[in-house]
Amino acid sequence: MFPVLVSWFLYHVSCYLCIMLKSTLIKATVAGAYQLKHFFNGEFKISNKEGMNNLVTEADHAAEKAIIEVIREEYPDHFILSEETGEMRTNSEFKWIIDPIDGTVNFSNGIPLCCVSIGLEKQGEMLLGCVYNPIMDEFYFAQKGMGAFLNDKKITVSSKSEVIKSCLVTGFPYTYLDEPNGPLQVFEKLVRRGVPVRRLGSAAIDLCWVAAGRFDGFYEHNLQAWDSAAGFLMVEEAGGKVTDYKGNPYSPYQPHLLATNGKIHDELRTIINGGSF
Ligand code: IPD
Ligand code: CA
Ligand code: CA
Repeated sequence: MFPVLVSWFLYHVSCYLCIMLKSTLIKATVAGAYQLKHFFNGEFKISNKEGMNNLVTEADHAAEKAIIEVIREEYPDHFILSEETGEMRTNSEFKWIIDPIDGTVNFSNGIPLCCVSIGLEKQGEMLLGCVYNPIMDEFYFAQKGMGAFLNDKKITVSSKSEVIKSCLVTGFPYTYLDEPNGPLQVFEKLVRRGVPVRRLGSAAIDLCWVAAGRFDGFYEHNLQAWDSAAGFLMVEEAGGKVTDYKGNPYSPYQPHLLATNGKIHDELRTIINGGSF
């Protein structure tokens, strides 16, 4: 009887904790998105980071500050990794991974493809993710084992099974990667065969649009953890597949990402690695 009671108790404590974490995640995402929307199409300072046109704006800093304030107030001991500030290390098993504005170049040109992206890891496993584009009013949420949602409606990946019939999306790094099977070579190979490959300029939105079935696949050669933390969970929870270019389970701490509906995964991976097409 005693062990049953203990596991019942532990189960309810963990559900309660998850509800609290989810509420903080949503509050933090909304706080960041409020800043994004406030500055969108307005006046803001812009400066350059490493690489050509790798921008950071006053809005990125304001969104990051607002997000971190919410998390710090509710979980002061949690580990935070955020694009503009870097690591705020603690011994906590929880780690918040924040991109205050993903799609900053779009944002700074008034292009409405930009968002706040926040993922929450527990002991190295992505537990929750939120991606919010307040300009298009699209709020994506995923919870490990519980599915992915767009504005509270469950989403699923597409069902296309051949690359030639697919609609894909990719991104290019700010500093061009000159390597075998680099981003432009893969892009050229696909486009020469007539495969539509879009470039939206926000990896988090690219991933969410795969999760929502708008794209059949997304690949990018050089991403950072904050670009993909929330979005890769979104794709997995929508029934898709996410790996590195070798086909290993995806880790946001290495650069290569391939996210698909699962059906075109192996074929697209072969093409990316130089296979004929
Ligand atoms: C960038 C976007 C873009 C991707 C770049 C990222 P940022 O993030 O996600 O789509 O191609 O690799 O750095 O700079 O807008 O946060
Ligand atoms: Ca980013
Ligand atoms: Ca960013």
